This record gives sequence, structure tokens and C-alpha cells, in this order.
Amino acid sequence: MTDTVALKRQAAEFAVGFIESGMVVGLGEGSTAAFAIELIGQRLQSGELHHILGIPCSSRVARRAAALSIPLTTLEAHPVVDITIDGADEVDPQFNLIKGGGGALLWEKIVAQATRREMIIVDYQKLVPQLGTIWAVPVEVVPFGYGSQAAFLESLGAQVSIRRAADGEPFRTDQGNYILDCRFGPISNPAELAARMKTRAGIVEHGLFIGMTADVIVASEDGVRHLRPTLP
Ligand code: A5P
Repeated sequence: MTDTVALKRQAAEFAVGFIESGMVVGLGEGSTAAFAIELIGQRLQSGELHHILGIPCSSRVARRAAALSIPLTTLEAHPVVDITIDGADEVDPQFNLIKGGGGALLWEKIVAQATRREMIIVDYQKLVPQLGTIWAVPVEVVPFGYGSQAAFLESLGAQVSIRRAADGEPFRTDQGNYILDCRFGPISNPAELAARMKTRAGIVEHGLFIGMTADVIVASEDGVRHLRPTLP
């Protein structure tokens, strides 16, 4: 196990400690959240947890959860999710996030907005002073006319590239859409950028998660920290 992998597991283990029997649990996408899913499966198996219902944040997560015998439900049957454990690509000091490195940002955001307690698990390398410092912002667009959305995103200051699958074809999300990875560099006002992107027909969703979490679990060599917003 590399150090980063071990840290991801530690963050996941800490967050899974907040899950109680009987909860509806959002199951996040990505390598960090995968550890949480594995641990939930183990705790169901051992009887430490029972009556958990999972809501997957991607079709891949749904398959992973099924393989671990985690019972799944839907937002139609359970429109309120008690707790979601998900990863992130970047976290700023206000707990705003970039998500969507795995291409699941739309389902992730739908699940997050239905969730009472969105817990974000990261290793310390994901903490940044400003969003956009390291990562591009993934933007999910409808395939029809996507070139026009790319031009619009460039007009907002981004260097835009279409995400591709291993076969060279455009990557397709669970909704059959494309992802445009938008490199803005450090973003001074993520909420304003998020609002501007939302006005554009053809942009389905973007990977800026503004004000959607109050629990960030960060693992580093010094241990696991639970970050909560400081009261004004
Ligand atoms: C998936 O679409 C993403 O939002 C992931 O949660 C994010 O990319 C973090 O992934 P890792 O945990 O693999 O770093």
C-alpha cells in the first residue's frame, strides 16, 4: 500500500464510524470512497451494522455495492439520505469542493443535495488555498452542440479539453453526456463561476460543490482530522 492509499483508507474508516444501523447511506464514487464501501460491506457481513440501504453515486458504485451484498435503494423510495461518504479532488478553506475526477459529478451532486450529512473524505494533498489550484473543473455537457459550450467555458477563462475514454472516444457519463475538463487556474470566486455556468443551456452540471458539506475528514501522516466550520 502506498502512503496515499493508506491515508485514503484511514479517512474512510473514520467516516464509516458515523454510520448507524437503519440509515440510508449515499455511496460515493472514487478510490477513497471505495474504501468506505468496502468497510460498510464488511460491517454488514459481521453484523456490526444492519438494515443499511445504499444510494450509489454511479453505476460502477452500484455494481461494487452489489458485489459486497450492500442492499441498494433509490431516491424515489428514499428521497432523504441520512449520510453520504464521498471523496473530492480539491477542498478549499470554506469547504467548497471540486468533484468529478471520476466523471460522476451529476449523480454525486444529486445525492449530496438530498443528504442530511455529506461527509467528504480526503488525504491532505487535496486541501488547497483556492479551488482550481491543481485540478480542472469537470463540466458535464449534452453531446449536442458541445463545441458551443466549450467556447463559452473558454470565454469564462478556462482551457478546455474533452475527456476521453481508453478507446479514444469521448468519455460518457452515466447519463450518456460528455465531460469537458476546464482548467481555470486558481478560482477567486467559485460561487460566481458556478452561477455563471448554471445559466447555460447544454451544461448539465459542473464539478464545483459550493456549500454542500460541513464535514471534511482529512488523513495525513499526523493522523485523521475532522474539520468542521468555525462559527462566526
Ligand atoms: C468522482 O467523480 C469524484 O468526485 C471523486 O470523488 C473524486 O475524483 C475523488 O477521487 P479519489 O478518491 O479517487 O481521489
